[in-house]
Amino acid sequence: MNRLEGKSALITGSARGIGKAFAKAYIAEGATVAIADINLEGAKNAAADLGPQAYAVQLDVTDQASIDAAIRTVEEKTGGLDVLINNAALFDLAPITEITRGSYDRLFSINVSGTLFMMQAAAQSMIARGNGGKIINMASQAGRRGEALVGVYCATKAAVISLTQSAGLNLIEHGINVNAIAPGVVDGEHWDGVDALFAQYENRPLGEKKRLVGEAVPYGRMGTAEDLIGMAVFLASKEADYIVAQTYNVDGGNWMS
Ligand SMILES: NC(=O)c1ccc[n+]([C@@H]2O[C@H](COP(=O)([O-])OP(=O)(O)OC[C@H]3O[C@@H](n4cnc5c(N)ncnc54)[C@H](O)[C@@H]3O)[C@@H](O)[C@H]2O)c1
Repeated sequence: MNRLEGKSALITGSARGIGKAFAKAYIAEGATVAIADINLEGAKNAAADLGPQAYAVQLDVTDQASIDAAIRTVEEKTGGLDVLINNAALFDLAPITEITRGSYDRLFSINVSGTLFMMQAAAQSMIARGNGGKIINMASQAGRRGEALVGVYCATKAAVISLTQSAGLNLIEHGINVNAIAPGVVDGEHWDGVDALFAQYENRPLGEKKRLVGEAVPYGRMGTAEDLIGMAVFLASKEADYIVAQTYNVDGGNWMS
């Protein structure tokens, strides 16, 4: 089934991990995908892996000129943007008494400002073209409630859920659907880093936190990037035209809302 035949997508942070898996799934459904990442080398390698329907774009979501240039590149290469996935994000961990302004600023500028100003640039481009579009933001179960050591990241993901609601309500009049996916715990390089931080702050051996969070998932294991692609393809497809401003949990039962 080619549910995204001829569509042009840009996925931020898709040089690796979940973003790269989304790119692969979109290409399999007939889309062309901009692998847009701050790590240009990684983006080029991912695009080479994914084949001729993928191309690498240098993008720093904290830099307005970089955002504008990436959107222009997509317009020039494909005739216009149909789907944006705001997937790039950073994680950090610290007790409230040790959170630094540097960490706070970095996480908010990538996870929140990056998401907002990518949505804005994409929406401007989609509105000018007049074909509508789909925007999918990556939230998290971390955005559903606070966690003792994860204050800043949780707050950024709560902000992503809120921005998804506001932008969803604002942009649907232009035929642009804005929705979000809230994964639970997804195995990969990102969670290797999370595990190492928990090892440091909770004085655990490496790998223990990962094992424990996996065992605690009602489904019985951590998620994989592939567990999320069904929702990512669905939300970008015509079947999701009537879905507006929602955040869907895809987390093996970790959170109910
Ligand atoms: N892995 C999980 O357990 C999990 C759980 C819930 C939500 N999420 C969310 O899913 C998304 C993808 O997660 P992942 O595990 O694949 O992460 P990841 O760390 O593996 O990948 C993030 C990508 O973003 C890129 N990036 C970082 N800063 C950037 C910037 N300023 N501009 C452009 N690109 C930048 C990185 O180079 C990297 O390729 C994130 O939004 C994350 O918060 C992940």
